[in-house]
Amino acid sequence: MYEQISHSLLNSILDDLKPEIRRQDLRHFYTRLGANFYAIHSLFSTLYGHRDDFKLQMLRLVETMAKGYIDRSPELERLDIQREQDHNWFLSQKWVGMALYSNGFAENLADLENKIGYFQELGINMVHIMPILMCPNGQSDGGYAISDFRQIDDRVGDLEDIRRIAKEFRKRDILLVLDIVLNHTSDEHEWAQKAKMGNRSFQNYYYIFENRETPDMFEQSMPEVFPETDPSNFTWNVEMEKWVMTVFHNYQWDLNYSNPSVFIEMLDIIMFWANQGVDVLRLDAVAFLWKKIGTSCQNERNAHLILQLMKDCCQVSAPGVLFIAEAIVAPIEVIKYFGEDAIAAKECEIAYNATLMALIWDGIATKNTKLLYQGIKNLPNKLERATWLNYVRCHDDIGLGFDDSDIRLAGYEPRAHRKFLVDYLSGKFDGSSSRGLVFMPNEATGDARICGSLASLAGLESALETADEGLIAYAINRILLMHAIILSFGGIPLIYNGDAIAVLNDYSYIDDPSKTDDNRWVHRPKINWEKADLRKQQGTVEHTVFNATKKMIAVRKEISAFADFNNRELIHLENKHLLCFIRFNHQLPSEKVLVIANFDANPQDLYLESLITIGFNIDSKFVDLYSGMKPEQCDSRITLQGYQFYWLTET
Ligand code: GLC
Ligand code: GLC
Repeated sequence: MYEQISHSLLNSILDDLKPEIRRQDLRHFYTRLGANFYAIHSLFSTLYGHRDDFKLQMLRLVETMAKGYIDRSPELERLDIQREQDHNWFLSQKWVGMALYSNGFAENLADLENKIGYFQELGINMVHIMPILMCPNGQSDGGYAISDFRQIDDRVGDLEDIRRIAKEFRKRDILLVLDIVLNHTSDEHEWAQKAKMGNRSFQNYYYIFENRETPDMFEQSMPEVFPETDPSNFTWNVEMEKWVMTVFHNYQWDLNYSNPSVFIEMLDIIMFWANQGVDVLRLDAVAFLWKKIGTSCQNERNAHLILQLMKDCCQVSAPGVLFIAEAIVAPIEVIKYFGEDAIAAKECEIAYNATLMALIWDGIATKNTKLLYQGIKNLPNKLERATWLNYVRCHDDIGLGFDDSDIRLAGYEPRAHRKFLVDYLSGKFDGSSSRGLVFMPNEATGDARICGSLASLAGLESALETADEGLIAYAINRILLMHAIILSFGGIPLIYNGDAIAVLNDYSYIDDPSKTDDNRWVHRPKINWEKADLRKQQGTVEHTVFNATKKMIAVRKEISAFADFNNRELIHLENKHLLCFIRFNHQLPSEKVLVIANFDANPQDLYLESLITIGFNIDSKFVDLYSGMKPEQCDSRITLQGYQFYWLTET
């Protein structure tokens, strides 16, 4: 958009640019800056326009973008242009992700490079390598407390390793995902160190208070993220003799985005990683970016403006790079992280679908799909050019974040139902085979979350102990059922490290003093590659799970209806144990795939009658795309065995 105020400001900024910037060939940069400048200026002035140094900050912002563009390699720039031309490229069903710690999946980054073959064997082509940046020994929150945003932790490798991995991935058409921890730094970060020494400019990078007056006001409405280990959102710092806002752990200092220098520093860091060849940046804890007294300090409007501004700026310098929003919040809130509209207010192209994740676990625990239907029905439609990251497990806990009203509509009382889920998943409930651990129970609110590996939560750990073949088969089928859903739902499936070979809980964290009070470590395993080799040996659990997952991935990639274009319709059935939805090819709606999953241990019937309204009839004949087999079909019904799923198409 052309608008005179911003355009004349842009002209004067361009005149003021440093000579070394002006001398460069910046054609693509200028066209994109021209296109986005109105939005960038509006957002920047909404956030920072009241400041005397606004124009100077605006100049710095443009310089940061220009530097980001100049540092981009010709190869990455070609990729940017290619992706601009094929702007829906990431909505394709061909993408399948995996999340891992480099020193959990492998020994370190160099060793990860030796194991790229594993991704190809399974069909993974998007790899999220979790935090690799410098962080303190011990107090590091699994790498999410960063002490240098540009330095790789020498325990896992160095910048050369990541550059090589990025290159190797690109050769094989694998996307590289890395984290940008936007919300906080470690208290050992240089900025925090300088703040501690009394430097006012750096104290202004954080929320720092002389006394309890403001912290107390904040506390009245702020929830606690880690109530068990880190209750309270503020920490007393003895060096400064002041209070610091620390929403997560007491050693994670929240960055203050009301200071434009913080925004510009973080944009520079985003550009730095984009220019190392990272395809997708996972923006950590984005819901927390803006703090306002009297609110929960989550999902604030200004947090969205910051993300929009980051997207607009990143599009100028590195438009091929995508953002993932890690916002583990209610569906109505999470959808906003895609932005308000596709053109003027875009934020992140991808967002974690934490709602679906929690709903799937509800289905496993209750053996029915009442809440799943209710929750999926209320999952708002996405923007164009936006997609979900669908997962069943990740490195964090499972929060039971569905709406209370949905729980009621499914016929349960919210508090009692949540308690049931925690009891079930932690194996306390009579008859439960789950082996989860309760994470951060909050006595005051009654809330609790759950940790545990997919396999242990699905009952494999307890089944293996009894050596009962039937129970083992149930557990395996539950694992496959859950993966079948995230692979067909619409969005990018994200498989967690170890889950394709059914890795169980790892209790060794208990003996490590730096991990013992954070039971998320129970599901952050170190892969035992000798055991992982069992995936090649018929008759082992590893073989069954790995090969079924591998096949599902291969089949998914061939089904155009599984691409993500808001092309899913939920099918309501009488049978409360079944989940059924239809996926259709958005360019050829007659091409349909019926996804159907049985959450019960007993066989359940799907009556073809219920499919008449969606264009099938009682004589329709089906084939399962996953197995290539015709399903058991008689008397106009299809029978699904316990925990069985089908990806059906009409023959
Ligand atoms: C994110 C990470 C989580 C971490 C938190 C604080 O949510 O996924 O592991 O504890 O941010 O950085
Ligand atoms: C909360 C936060 C999420 C974080 C998690 C850590 O759920 O919302 O961002 O990953 O805590 O366990």
